[in-house]
Amino acid sequence: MSNNSEAFEHWIRTSFVQMNTELEELYFAQEDRSRVTGSGDRIKHSLRDEGHTYVTALRAEGNTGFDSAFGVLGNVGMYLGALRRHELTNPAREERSPFPEASSLAIHCGASLGMAPRFATAHLTIHNRARAGLRKSFTSLKDEFLFIDENTRGILSLQRAADALTSIVHVGVSSPVADVMFAAAKHSLQEVIQSNRRLMERLDVERFFHCVRPYYKPYRVGRQEYRGANAGDFSGINELDLLLGLCRASDPYYGPLLVDKMLFMLPADQARLKECMTRRSLLDELLELLDAHRDADWFQRNARAFLEVCDLFGRTAAQHHDELVKRFIEQPAARLAEEPQGLTASGPPLPVLLRSLEVLRDLRVAADRADISTRHRDLARLRAAAAPR
Ligand code: HEM
Repeated sequence: MSNNSEAFEHWIRTSFVQMNTELEELYFAQEDRSRVTGSGDRIKHSLRDEGHTYVTALRAEGNTGFDSAFGVLGNVGMYLGALRRHELTNPAREERSPFPEASSLAIHCGASLGMAPRFATAHLTIHNRARAGLRKSFTSLKDEFLFIDENTRGILSLQRAADALTSIVHVGVSSPVADVMFAAAKHSLQEVIQSNRRLMERLDVERFFHCVRPYYKPYRVGRQEYRGANAGDFSGINELDLLLGLCRASDPYYGPLLVDKMLFMLPADQARLKECMTRRSLLDELLELLDAHRDADWFQRNARAFLEVCDLFGRTAAQHHDELVKRFIEQPAARLAEEPQGLTASGPPLPVLLRSLEVLRDLRVAADRADISTRHRDLARLRAAAAPR
């Protein structure tokens, strides 16, 4: 790492965290916790000006290789995310970012990597390198640490489940060795369920809503507004959707969603997702074999294991929507007099976002819905064929 990148990295891990934490404590102590303007101006200006010094030095230095470009993109993105959180910029009242140097640096790094010019989920989760036990974060609040850690565990487990299913693609769904991969996928999905449960039990609603979530708002880089990062910005979740056959890349709702998230993922994840889109799903493979082989032992065994994986995956999706989104976003938002601007990471008003997340849940649980194309009937056919007799 160059001296300039290391100096910026050090600042992001120390003073930046301290200043954000102080500001959060100030806002949180107010009667109206959503009010950001008018308090902590001295700290906000130090955060803006200190960050600017590092940004200017890096911009003059230029891009110095993948590791560094990815790290710098995360740091400049976190800096811009914090400026947005503290209302030093707001895309609704500006046509371009008031931080042209930081925007140029982010655009240079993002374009050279093939990623959106803002911090991505990977920066704070699966590529968030701990130094002596401490991972990167905006604040040192324990609820932010919990959120980052459980998101990371969830993502890692979903990735492992996706890896296991990808291995089945190569040997075929009728293979006698598919059993170990189905078992690995099941185990990993059970871990996702545990991780979601820990969030439900331990994450403080008020702290999350007022002090963690606001760092994930959309902001402008140059003229363009970019949506916020969310824990779904990795390919594993979509590999599971596609390999299980619950969602299809040709679906008019689901396909555009894949395109939208491509640039928010690591380049390696982008490649995985593209490859996955060329595969046939395990569900389609099983349905094709059903009529001729339904009584064969291997069919019974593998179809049942497949269905168990589908059920567990559906449970994780239902947990996300019915528990996490409801408890940590929908309910606290309903308690406010008016919806705070930029509440959702993706930008649309909350009811619109909730409806689209509901569609995703229903695709993943293969709900019986007439208005969207789920695999409800296909799964019912497979269940009937694989039911113990
Ligand atoms: C407190 C916990 C969580 C809350 C409140 C939450 C909330 C949300 C919201 C509101 C979105 C929509 C994007 C937006 O903000 O505009 C979203 C997207 C997403 N989240 Fe979470 N989330 C949480 C934790 C997790 C965890 C642990 C995972 C698993 C790794 C996860 C996976 C996803 C995925 C995959 C998406 C993209 C949409 C989809 O494909 O379902 N989330 N989340």
